[in-house]
Amino acid sequence: MRFPPQLLDEIRARLPVSQVVSRRVRLQRRGREYVGLSPFKEEKTPSFTVNDQKSFYHCFSTGEHGDIFKFLMTTEGVSFSEAVERLAEEAGVALPKASPTMVRQEEERDRLLELMAASEDFYRGQLARSVGREAAAYLDRRGLDREVRDVFSIGFAPGDRQALRAHLAAKGFTDAEMARAGMTVAGPDIREPYDRFRNRVMFPIADLRGRTIAFGGRALEPGQPAKYLNSPETPLFHKGSVLFNAHRARPASHDTGEVVVAEGYMDVIAFWRAGIRHAVAPLGTALTEDQLAQLWRMAQEPILCFDGDGAGRRAALRALELALERLQPSRSLRFAFMPDGLDPDDLLAQQGAEAVAATLRAARPLADVLWQSTFESGDWSTPERRAGLKALLLGKAQRIAHPEVRRNYERDLSDRLWAAFASTHAGRGERTFANRERAPARRGMAAGGADRAAGPHGPRQAGLPGYSEALTRSLLVASPEAAATARDAVLLLTLLNHPWLIDRDDETIAGLAIANALLAGLRDALLALHAEAEVLDTIDLRNHLDGLGQGPALALVDRSTLHETHGFARPETPDDVVLAGWADLIAAKRLDELGAAIAMAEREFNATGTEGALEHLMALKDEQAKFGM
Ligand code: UTP
Ligand code: MN
Repeated sequence: MRFPPQLLDEIRARLPVSQVVSRRVRLQRRGREYVGLSPFKEEKTPSFTVNDQKSFYHCFSTGEHGDIFKFLMTTEGVSFSEAVERLAEEAGVALPKASPTMVRQEEERDRLLELMAASEDFYRGQLARSVGREAAAYLDRRGLDREVRDVFSIGFAPGDRQALRAHLAAKGFTDAEMARAGMTVAGPDIREPYDRFRNRVMFPIADLRGRTIAFGGRALEPGQPAKYLNSPETPLFHKGSVLFNAHRARPASHDTGEVVVAEGYMDVIAFWRAGIRHAVAPLGTALTEDQLAQLWRMAQEPILCFDGDGAGRRAALRALELALERLQPSRSLRFAFMPDGLDPDDLLAQQGAEAVAATLRAARPLADVLWQSTFESGDWSTPERRAGLKALLLGKAQRIAHPEVRRNYERDLSDRLWAAFASTHAGRGERTFANRERAPARRGMAAGGADRAAGPHGPRQAGLPGYSEALTRSLLVASPEAAATARDAVLLLTLLNHPWLIDRDDETIAGLAIANALLAGLRDALLALHAEAEVLDTIDLRNHLDGLGQGPALALVDRSTLHETHGFARPETPDDVVLAGWADLIAAKRLDELGAAIAMAEREFNATGTEGALEHLMALKDEQAKFGM
């Protein structure tokens, strides 16, 4: 152990906590203690206290608590040894003489750091010269202007295998040092050492003090064996404990209380260009425990950004599993999913800074993602399976070490479970299941258009209950009201694009419960127009509706995002496909209504116990059972 406990006590004894803290927090004396505004949280009334006698501080609003070392580590993100070194110096306490090996190691580190700094300078110089012209053009194409290149100290490693080696040799560095620092490739089988990074755009990777300890190099041309090449593990660089850009992000995250974790160098830079300066990235590997601890020193709820694709989701779940057992009061993660197939850099290029900021604002709490991913991982169509889901969820909660957080998770997950299956006797999972089982039958029917002639109750008689899986999922993502509105908007859009449906199902449409007032108004206007005129085409219909003051409702409908599964709503879709999709929508709505009605009838029956109430309940259940057929 480098720092014996007596030594730490000595430093604590010499440095009052108030002295260390007051550099950051304005303290006022109150009795034996000091109070001030918490440095961990925005607040108006002081909840932060310092007690010099007991040598600790405590923040009542966040629960943060510790000694001078912890204070420095938490507010400045420095490591324990750095905190000890700095405070020892301030206290005038001499640190024990390091052993000869340690001295040698320190000297070597210093030497390698110099070597890295010299390499960084070299690469930057190359980018400015004619040899770097192509790389500069590449950076221009990707929107990295002069200022960004300077901030991130971006350079270029030329194609010549000896370029850096010769440069460093001229500066007095040995081949052994270059190889130790990972900048050349050398070994017993290699006659002459050569530069590791060639023909690549170079991103320096710094430690928390901003000293370059490694590089990431991006190939200029596609089809290179590795798109990105990172420095190997060296005495300076341990990939798993470094976050790219942490030293620049740290002050920004102290100001904003946030930190964003992206997947790559270019994403961090894209965030920077979008005005979000508190972004970092791990280096091409899954987030480690060490990195997570660093993130939590920067912010209470780091936002992890992932691509919306399958790989991104899997990466998100790995991070979630890592965080789960380490959750603390007020200490969690949030997850921001990018639109399908886009990373933050693509999104910035396509849609601009506001779109990037919006995806961060939409970041979802860990509990949400835990619930949804578990729910989507299986089929919960039977009571036994639903019990299995419950066990699975509670098992996840069990992993949380902190008892109070764990209890809150147990409650939260049970609530979600209850909400997911309470609305109908069948439960959503069963609908998904039924849907899957019946898929071939439906396709046959839709293709033959057999249920076209089935009359106003066509959708129900056609026996097409259930949500599509994507619909179920979209319902889970948004709030229930928002989800209902979104679904009703799709429903109305379908009617606008396929007015013949109104003719066919006007009674059903009239009977639909539409909660959103704008949308309900639009439905009424549609039916009224339909009653007056012959079937109008979409354009006529929209013009009339606009004239009737339905503009805002039309705008709401037009803003609805159409998933692939809502393709039937689009104007160009063939009638039979439209009809199948429409039937799904109506069935889903009717099932929800039935679920709510049954819940109410059950309460009624429990309260009154009358025959009439029972009959009503049975009738509703019968109808629900027909859906399940
Ligand atoms: P991506 O493949 O998503 O690249 O890798 P990117 O960040 O979008 O980069 P551009 O836009 O194509 O230039 C994400 C991160 O994974 C690591 C790098 O850290 C990269 O930033 N990676 C990727 C590697 O280490 N090696 C590779 O070959 C590819
Ligand atoms: Mn990219």
